[in-house]
Amino acid sequence: MNQSTPFGPYTLHEMLGEGGFSQVYRAQDRQRRETVAVKLLHPAVTATEEGRQRFLREVEAARRLRYRHIVPVYAAGINDGRAFLAMRLMRGGTLAQRLAAGRPLDNVAAAQVMRHTARALDYARGYGIIHRDVKPSNIFYAEAHGSSHVCLGDFGLAKVRGLATVTRPDQVIGSVYYMSPEQVRGLANTTEQSDVYSLGVVLYQMLTGRVPFAGQSQASVLHAIVNSPPPSPRRYNSRISPEVERVVLRALSKDPARRFATAGELAAAFQAALPDGRVARRPGGRLPGSRRKEAGLPTHRRPEFWVAVLGVLAFILLILYLAG
Ligand SMILES: Nc1ncnc2c1ncn2[C@@H]1O[C@H](COP(=O)(O)OP(=O)(O)O)[C@@H](O)[C@H]1O
Ligand SMILES: [Mg+2]
Repeated sequence: MNQSTPFGPYTLHEMLGEGGFSQVYRAQDRQRRETVAVKLLHPAVTATEEGRQRFLREVEAARRLRYRHIVPVYAAGINDGRAFLAMRLMRGGTLAQRLAAGRPLDNVAAAQVMRHTARALDYARGYGIIHRDVKPSNIFYAEAHGSSHVCLGDFGLAKVRGLATVTRPDQVIGSVYYMSPEQVRGLANTTEQSDVYSLGVVLYQMLTGRVPFAGQSQASVLHAIVNSPPPSPRRYNSRISPEVERVVLRALSKDPARRFATAGELAAAFQAALPDGRVARRPGGRLPGSRRKEAGLPTHRRPEFWVAVLGVLAFILLILYLAG
């Protein structure tokens, strides 16, 4: 694909990334004059009539999910035989990118991801939709600077992918790390608790910088997910408290019934277990400067604040001038 390839009502620019069965491009919606992200799915997804029907059904359901913590899908369909989705361009990148260095996140950042992702999962669950592919590359930061607003993307796509041929086998192992034991045994076994497990793996990685089961091959990872107990997170990060460790390990129970009932319960239990629960328990609230610094958040004020200050000063000067 060159620098600007027309695709239906879109012009595709550079590739933002690629998964096992899809490629995502920064694109221009020529009608709405808007920059979006367009995902093209592997042709195998829609090679059969059954595949096409499943794709249209699943994306239609996902498109109806409108929620502040879910990446909005603007349009989806089949163009020139190629299944595509147009969605909001997430300018802040993915959690996978933030974790790529292998360093843990601080508790405040981890709690934010847990809270927002769990809200998205619980919201979708209310519409009978299970995600099935919760992983850091599907967890997005809305804006590049300042905001820690998190959105979950790719609802409905795990089902569409099904057993489609994969373009990049090396990309598949990245998804395998987050699979629950019951998913390893077969897609039909997936329940809401499978998403709780995957979110537990994400939490493990945010706290330790690594996934619980990392193997040389896909087969060894899958075998460990089903058979091995997860290594204690405290082994990799001694600052994790026993309370937090208990929460993580419960989310990673092999038996779905022993996990948290919902993603929201997992997020709440994590927050409650934090040594300083107060720091994380202020959703969206502004922390005092010293606490923001501690938490690794920016301590400077936004530009809008200074514009407002200047506005008030100008107003006072105007009043003084008129009065004088
Ligand atoms: N809406 C989006 N906005 C910005 N970047 C995106 C968006 N969707 C996907 N990406 C980027 O494209 C990459 C590939 O996405 P995808 O094909 O879903 O595979 P995966 O989720 O396995 O990485 C993602 O890892 C991400 O970096
Ligand atoms: Mg994805």
